[in-house]
Amino acid sequence: MRTLPSFLALVALAAPLAAVDFTGLPAVGDVTAVTRTERGVNLACADGATVQVVVLAPDLVRVRTLFAGQPAAPDHSWAVARTDWAAAPWQLSESPEAVTLTTGELAVVVQRAPLLVEFRDAATHRVINADARPVMRDPRTGRVGAAKRLGLDEHFYGLGEKAARLDRRRGEFILWNSDTPGYVEGTDPIYQSIPFYLGVEDGRAYGLFYDNSYRSVFDFGHTTQEYAGYTADGGVLDYYFFQGPALKKILGRYNELTGRMPLPPLWALGHQQSRYSYYPASMAEDIARTYQAHDLPLDVLYLDIHYMDGYRVFTWNPTRFPDPAALTARLAGDGIKVVTIVDPGVKYQPEGGYAVFDEGAAHDYFLRRADGSLYLGEVWPGPAVFVDFTRADARRWWGDLHRALLDRGVAGVWTDMNEPSDFRDKTGQSQRDVVFDDLGARTPYPKNRNVFALNMARATYEGLARLRPDRRPFVITRAGYAGVQRYATMWIGDSNATFAALALNLPMFAALGLSGETFVGSDLPGFLGRGDGELLARSYQVATFVPLCRNHGAIDDYDHEPWRYGAPYEAIVRKYLQLRYRLLPFLYTTLEEAHRTGVPLFRPLLLNFQDDPTALNLDDEFMVGDALLAAPVVHAGERGREVYLPRGLWYDFWTGAPVLNGDFFRTDAPLDHLPLYVRGGGVIPSTEPMHHVGEKPWNPLRFDVYPDDAGAAAGSLYEDDGLTPAYATGAFRRTAVACTGPAGSTRLTLAPPVGSYQPGGRNFEFILHSTGVPHSVTLDDQALAASRADASGAGWWRDETGALHFRIADDSRGHTLQLR
Ligand code: GLC
Repeated sequence: MRTLPSFLALVALAAPLAAVDFTGLPAVGDVTAVTRTERGVNLACADGATVQVVVLAPDLVRVRTLFAGQPAAPDHSWAVARTDWAAAPWQLSESPEAVTLTTGELAVVVQRAPLLVEFRDAATHRVINADARPVMRDPRTGRVGAAKRLGLDEHFYGLGEKAARLDRRRGEFILWNSDTPGYVEGTDPIYQSIPFYLGVEDGRAYGLFYDNSYRSVFDFGHTTQEYAGYTADGGVLDYYFFQGPALKKILGRYNELTGRMPLPPLWALGHQQSRYSYYPASMAEDIARTYQAHDLPLDVLYLDIHYMDGYRVFTWNPTRFPDPAALTARLAGDGIKVVTIVDPGVKYQPEGGYAVFDEGAAHDYFLRRADGSLYLGEVWPGPAVFVDFTRADARRWWGDLHRALLDRGVAGVWTDMNEPSDFRDKTGQSQRDVVFDDLGARTPYPKNRNVFALNMARATYEGLARLRPDRRPFVITRAGYAGVQRYATMWIGDSNATFAALALNLPMFAALGLSGETFVGSDLPGFLGRGDGELLARSYQVATFVPLCRNHGAIDDYDHEPWRYGAPYEAIVRKYLQLRYRLLPFLYTTLEEAHRTGVPLFRPLLLNFQDDPTALNLDDEFMVGDALLAAPVVHAGERGREVYLPRGLWYDFWTGAPVLNGDFFRTDAPLDHLPLYVRGGGVIPSTEPMHHVGEKPWNPLRFDVYPDDAGAAAGSLYEDDGLTPAYATGAFRRTAVACTGPAGSTRLTLAPPVGSYQPGGRNFEFILHSTGVPHSVTLDDQALAASRADASGAGWWRDETGALHFRIADDSRGHTLQLR
């Protein structure tokens, strides 16, 4: 890392500390004794503090400070999924000045006086990240703080859901889950808190996860250019340091530490329609019918709060929805799944007659204030109580309550208002005396607010998994904390139906992906207001490549279904929804990669081109997996835009024409056009469009192959039953495709499939872009006959763009196509 000269640092220090405020935070004492532990060291400090350095993996080190006088707390985190790390070799060396722990990848150098921790590359000894000050804690308030030296050209990413541009440099951010309808760029905090960030300088990255759920402030050079500051209003100063230098490697470790996103059902990638609210039941059916009449695909219909009886969770309104099971069965007949909302606020009904309140009260599951009185908030049902989701018994009870929904055919659950929102005071200040059980430690509200949604999502996910073990749970949440990806997908809350909000979608989704959350999305074309047909069209062009593709709108505002904006706009929506369904094999393959590796589906260019300095601040384009790059128009009235393509060979997705790049260029983008490119070297699996997932099998399965400038390409297809958890025990199928050059003797290989899942008989079609006409084509050394697109059986042909098509039957074996 390159840091500012110290005279500049002194000037910066003299500036008022407006943001991260270290006032009243005394530093930890110097190191007085070193005790070796099984996985690291405990450093005793002059003031009675202990700093624990723990090697979890060669590239993952935890540093936890127990300050003098700090009340003992169990070593437990709601975010962390993994604590059983395999032993990683490390060495300890001590000098009068420092204590050094060296792993295969990192040297953690702890200077004794003052106590400063430095992370170095074990091989080059280059400093990756270093304390600018010793860690701090105010014994009076319990506030803790840390300051990390700021690199001259260091860029920051992450912190999950922030209404901000991608690069966090010079920004200050607060983590305190908040219900903020109609937020705009700069509104902070909003719904979620993910205290994980990535630092990138000179193409090299590291990660830092401050696992502390108290209200926190992160300052990336907002107050001073000397350090990146961090404070939390209480709790333990406990962080994990991730060595890269590759961003993808860090995301993989973060995924291991905080847990994988399980695969949702495949239909979660389908188009979804919501409204605050569809009722009565006949209206929901009407919407489904209109979808069919308009030839628009639909997989999911949402029931918002009006399906309930007086907003009582886990009830059905008997007049509006007299027979919910019949409704879900009829919709299921058309391939449409129903997702219902469940809010945390339980109607306060002490007079009896509401089983959920009665049972929760009888078991004392509801939160209380320090004086023992029930915590009464106010949400949709009026006065409401809230479950203590830190209690395992309460989570189990809550999870089981979903029987009232699942037994009536509900396919998934939408958990909302879980900051938790309280209309009496959305800031949470007047709830500070609410006490959570927190594994018997009985901790205060400020520690628990940011993990409320995480624990509610857990109760919901585990309930669904228990009640319907042969189905993958589908849960969607508004609020969250690190680790929430284990239980829920998410959407970015009550956005505005404006172009400004659409533009903000791109850095928001990218940052969420860099913070462990891959299954994200936003209301189309924005929750509040109507927007116009142009906004609708542009929103769908983005949403084609966003995991959650859900149309939703507020009460009293306007109908947002695609046909409400007029035929020309509806036609554009249809075009992009058909493209999405066509690309489901690619999207699902990329989603599975995210599940397995932690590398998100929706990626800022930076993630695929870490060495390209132009990518560092680029947040109005994005990539889908490794192969597709979208440069959507997100401004009203624009019919073209500037596009940046990193160095290399690219292809125009629509024409297949090669584009050589490494620079910015201008392209036209009429309203029905999304500038979309494929990286040379990529392979995109696709199939036929359909009206809902499972309407027909993926047949034929196409692999569009785009060779790089050396003629090579590689990619794969992931498949499973899309519905059950069997994929986790091997019932999947991975099909790898590779192309090797040079032109004139191209070879396409289909590796034998891996995994036990059997998709059934079908054809494969390989489409090789941009090559000359071969003299001969052989399939496994036998001549392959020339054929036509509309013929059947094995064969090859050339289409009007010049691309070559090869059709063969999928017989579950490997094959080689040789072109000469
Ligand atoms: C919140 C949600 C919104 C929902 C509404 C009514 O505002 O964010 O999506 O429609 O509550 O439940």
